[in-house]
Amino acid sequence: MGKDVIIACDFSSKEEVFTFLDKFQEEKPFVKIGMELFYAAGPEIVKEIKKRGHKIFLDLKLHDIPNTVMKAMKVLSNLDVDMTNLHAAGTAAMMEAAVKGLTREDGTRPILIAVTQLTSTSEERMRDELLIERPIDSVVLHYAMNAQKAGLDGVVCSPLEAKKVHDICGSSFVTVTPGVRFADGEVGDQVRVMTPAQAKEIGSDYIVVGRPITQADDPVAAYRRCVAEFVG
Ligand code: C5P
Repeated sequence: MGKDVIIACDFSSKEEVFTFLDKFQEEKPFVKIGMELFYAAGPEIVKEIKKRGHKIFLDLKLHDIPNTVMKAMKVLSNLDVDMTNLHAAGTAAMMEAAVKGLTREDGTRPILIAVTQLTSTSEERMRDELLIERPIDSVVLHYAMNAQKAGLDGVVCSPLEAKKVHDICGSSFVTVTPGVRFADGEVGDQVRVMTPAQAKEIGSDYIVVGRPITQADDPVAAYRRCVAEFVG
């Protein structure tokens, strides 16, 4: 899998996202479209961004019964996205159904990755609300192994977990890591952060970067800096 920087296009309208993407004249960055933009602008936004030549990670984090997820993944696969995801908590049966739904007639399919535990879920909440007694690290790694057994390509994880995931699931199992900040930049609401260079060092395959690029005075320069540090 090629290393790449994915820009989190966390905008709430088509106009905003196109104003942002218009700034990129020379390169066509890999972009992440999340629930906010997808629910606001619909599947058309995916087709339009794709038509402009960008790769797309559609971050909708599916979690439902296997049959529903299989059918929803079939629809997403027809949108021709390059990467999409689901919650590993939906069980192996759900993940296997997702792979089946996502696979096109010619046998190809977008990269499919799993969310293990959201970074907003603390160990305490997992124990007290979800009744999961194990330490969060082992839950994350166990869910990553379940995802791999079900035929998925990788997981979304913090850059701090990427190394462990590779140690256990192998180096070709993809790690997609948010929580990236420049050494001299604002951290914002992210707690456990890493620079693009550190994420490279630790072996992340893709970094997802939002505000350090989207809110920069010069987003193209910020994107190029990320690529230079991460891809080299
Ligand atoms: O602006 P920032 O770089 O913090 O954006 C990070 C992106 O990655 C956002 O779209 C956020 O929802 C997503 N994300 C995250 N932490 C996770 C999973 C996804 O920050 N654990």
